[in-house]
Amino acid sequence: MRHLMTPLDLTVEELDRLMETADDIIIHPEKYAHVCEGRILATLFYEPSTRTRLSFEAAMLRLGGRTMGFSEASSSSAAKGESVADTIRVVSCFADIAAMRHFKEGAPMVAAQFSRIPVINAGDGGHQHPTQTLTDLMTIRAIKGRLGGMKIGMCGDLKFGRTVHSLIRALLRYDNISFVFVSPDELRLPDYMIEELHAHPGVSYTEVTRLEAVLPELDVLYMTRVQRERFFNEEDYVRLKDYYVLDSNKMSLAGKDMIVLHPLPRVNEISVEVDNDPRARYFDQVQNGMYIRMALILMLLGIEV
Ligand code: NCD
Repeated sequence: MRHLMTPLDLTVEELDRLMETADDIIIHPEKYAHVCEGRILATLFYEPSTRTRLSFEAAMLRLGGRTMGFSEASSSSAAKGESVADTIRVVSCFADIAAMRHFKEGAPMVAAQFSRIPVINAGDGGHQHPTQTLTDLMTIRAIKGRLGGMKIGMCGDLKFGRTVHSLIRALLRYDNISFVFVSPDELRLPDYMIEELHAHPGVSYTEVTRLEAVLPELDVLYMTRVQRERFFNEEDYVRLKDYYVLDSNKMSLAGKDMIVLHPLPRVNEISVEVDNDPRARYFDQVQNGMYIRMALILMLLGIEV
């Protein structure tokens, strides 16, 4: 039995296969419409979500399966003090696969240790978010035709932004990747991520605070929201929340083929005027997210189509 906790749980070949399956699902949805009949996906969400939870549910429903779950800790037995370990033992009796989001780093890993069904980490605190990474990779590959040979800017809250951490991990394994990390000093990448970068001498990176200066050289700009819920005090959040706002003026500094991604939800960091720019691809990302989660559910359930 397999779980997905970090993108590194999948080999590069497996990532390729997932993306190929997702592409096939887009072309031939009817082939996949009943393959999960009789199977149940549990969505165990201890933290708010729109896209991730609904896209997992849509993925399972479009495979012919069913879903159940909770969307806030207060409506589960966590409110009575039940541990994640006990909850997953219980859910293992009812469902065939589970997606868990938790505000505590590592909670889905604990669940995986006690689970009798595959567990997918749907975001754990400020740590990792591997299925958002699958979505990001699929989108970059679909638009750029490749995943290596790329200069990728990541901008915003690189400290608490789990989507950033997972995407870096996944991209480290491709050739010729260079990163430009754009953040205020307080929101720089955590040390454990810097150490992972140093362990890959083939990958280069720079850390800067000004977005304008680096925009012209990027192939991909990955914008992120300042993660309010992970701040210790509101004052710091208020001071940093509008540090970067991508608007049409800044977009005029970028190359004509640079694409803008964002895991969403967006707050103020991308001005709505950018939405109509053909380089803004964050809503395509959402659509891809459902297809790649369909492919992932099939892989973890061991269903060949
Ligand atoms: C992200 C997350 O939950 O980490 N959202 C998502 O799943 N698409 C990004 C965020 O909340 O800022």
